[in-house]
Amino acid sequence: MIREVLRMGDERLLKRAAPVERFGARELQELLADMRDTMAHLSGAGLAAPQIGVSLRVVIFGVARNPRYPHAGEVPDTVLINPTVTPLTQDLAEDWEGCLSVPGLRGWVPRFERIRYAGFDAEGRPFERVAEGFHARVVQHECDHLDGILYPMRIRDFTRFGFIDALFPGQELPPEE
Ligand code: NI
Repeated sequence: MIREVLRMGDERLLKRAAPVERFGARELQELLADMRDTMAHLSGAGLAAPQIGVSLRVVIFGVARNPRYPHAGEVPDTVLINPTVTPLTQDLAEDWEGCLSVPGLRGWVPRFERIRYAGFDAEGRPFERVAEGFHARVVQHECDHLDGILYPMRIRDFTRFGFIDALFPGQELPPEE
């Protein structure tokens, strides 16, 4: 079921979400189905459960390669529950970022260039991956939602924050997260 995505200003986006304690519960599968439906409906790159008002540490993400924004790269379709993110470098990369909870805007956001992330899949199996670039950026963005952090809180240069149609007239951009 397509759910309403909360927008910045809603205090539910600012809460620290709770870990999932029971895998295999029907509620979790229904939550994931709703998150997938909602993300697909909005053509998003990722979605965190708090964005649909569910305060659990659950995120999904995935981006197909698109020749219209080649530098974004491909991100595997992933369900990530109770995640941990470990930087593998102190190097920060800055790039444009958008969010389904901050629709219509883009900001220039620093993120760790290379990370390891770990957590559980939809069936409760543990896994971990190393990611860099756009993939690492999407994971950090989604996991921030679980701690009540929206990307504008990470912007350092507010001259690079604005409306998409004003910043990039006529251009096609990677999807919002
Ligand atoms: Ni977001």
